[in-house]
Amino acid sequence: MAKRHLITTALPYANGPLHIGHLAGVYIPADIYCRYLRAKGEEVLLVGGSDEHGVPITIKARKENTTPQAIVDRYHVIIQKSFEELGISFDVYSRTTKPIHHETASAFFTKLHENGKLIEKSSEQYYDEEVGEFLADRYITGTCPQCGNANAYGDQCEACGTSLNATDLINPKSALSGNTPVMKETQHWYLPLDQYENWLKEWILEGHKEDWKINVYGQCKSWIEQGLQPRAVTRDLNWGVKVPLVGAEGKVLYVWFDAPIGYISATKEWCEQNGQNYEKWWKDDETRLLHFIGKDNIVFHCIIFPVMLKAEGSFILPENVPANEFLNLENDKISTSRNWAVWLHEYLEDFKDKQDVLRYTLTTIAPETKDADFTWADFQAKNNNELLAILGNFVNRTVVLIHKYYEGIVTAAGEYTDEEKEVIAKIAEFPNTIGASIEKYRFREALAELMNLARLGNKYLTDTEPWKVVKTDPERVKTILHLSIQICACLSVLGEPFLPFTSQKLQKILNINIHNWNDGGKVDLLKAGDKINAPEYLFEKIEDAAIEAQVQKLPK
Ligand code: 2FM
Ligand code: ZN
Repeated sequence: MAKRHLITTALPYANGPLHIGHLAGVYIPADIYCRYLRAKGEEVLLVGGSDEHGVPITIKARKENTTPQAIVDRYHVIIQKSFEELGISFDVYSRTTKPIHHETASAFFTKLHENGKLIEKSSEQYYDEEVGEFLADRYITGTCPQCGNANAYGDQCEACGTSLNATDLINPKSALSGNTPVMKETQHWYLPLDQYENWLKEWILEGHKEDWKINVYGQCKSWIEQGLQPRAVTRDLNWGVKVPLVGAEGKVLYVWFDAPIGYISATKEWCEQNGQNYEKWWKDDETRLLHFIGKDNIVFHCIIFPVMLKAEGSFILPENVPANEFLNLENDKISTSRNWAVWLHEYLEDFKDKQDVLRYTLTTIAPETKDADFTWADFQAKNNNELLAILGNFVNRTVVLIHKYYEGIVTAAGEYTDEEKEVIAKIAEFPNTIGASIEKYRFREALAELMNLARLGNKYLTDTEPWKVVKTDPERVKTILHLSIQICACLSVLGEPFLPFTSQKLQKILNINIHNWNDGGKVDLLKAGDKINAPEYLFEKIEDAAIEAQVQKLPK
């Protein structure tokens, strides 16, 4: 393994709250990954923050008759609080409106400009004569030339994921006035992606064929093979990082230029607060840089940002970009505008102390290789039939019996039977099996393995029947419950990346404080004579009424 791991998560736009699609695709996988690495004793930095520039924010501000700053101030707080409550273990959660980010992004642009890495050119761009503004990105809508979606934006079609230039749109319209725009001359700076085509072919198409996910590699391949064009990295707008050049008044950096630099500024911010030099994270080959993102962000993280880093010259490149596909809700695309979503802040209100149920459900259906679907019925079933019936039930049976027979004192194990030796050998494999899946970004598989450990525990109890044996051979029961409580302890260690709240609760019941991943395969985590605490349910049944209420909340 590398010396350290720098894990970034897509910076959500601070123009709305988070929904379950964001969580399943980006933040929960990244959090599992980082918690796992920390438990392995690795040096990790999990970086996040709010993306506070860009046209979606200014559009929202216009609609609400307020300022972009007021919009981002509102949503940054909501988003950050939701992440915290869900247990996403960011080391730093920053904002792109902070001065440290403006300085960093500005310096990055200046270096590219001074080193002749950008092209300066004048072109005709769409302009709304009535409003008197150039129409960047989402200020212009029209029909996508690729898929025919009538509501594509000037920078991207959300229906087919194609990244667009405003001039590609058929029947363009101003999002400000609805008017047909005119063309007007303006000057901008471009990143000449075409000059990096050969390098990208070598770096991605040859260098990452084996280790990048098929969906990610495939998108990159099709992009590169279509031929790359220079991309404008500045815009005529007044909200964003000002272009640091004389004569560039009224121009800002394109949001997709400044946002990924946000990963660097957030790292700097953390380093300043923690007495470190950020260069160790960004300029040392011993750092593994990974970007967790959704599929709509692939081109920006695999092509454009790496070209920026390469052109700048002193930064490392991502080792992998484990992007996920999309999550649907009740068989329909999640849509903010139609309010077809499960909003995280609302979930956290409605299902207090059930963070892990959402984390669990979303991990079991993570859209790792194809789009996936969240349904409330499945959420209920996952809680009642899996978390409660398998994991909760096993732990509860064990803890209750230890209290019933031994007043909560862990008994010593006698001689293990051959079957028990097999159980112990199987337990020892779990840290590696689960870890190997996590390392391959297969979080669904990893979590399924964790549940297999709980199943193993249940089967062991069912096979050995301590509640019957206690009448004929009480000494045997001491061994059975000794081993069962060890399995509970292993579950608390190996479950931590997925179910951090449950794991903490379980460790409290077991009276232990063990966070070393490899300990999760050991059967001596509790010693004879240790006292455990009173049983407490890890999960509670979710009734039909609670589910029905959520279904009713969705728009008709
Ligand atoms: O798609 C989005 O929501 C963007 N705000 C993601 C930005 S990721 C990074 F570059 F900051
Ligand atoms: Zn399209």
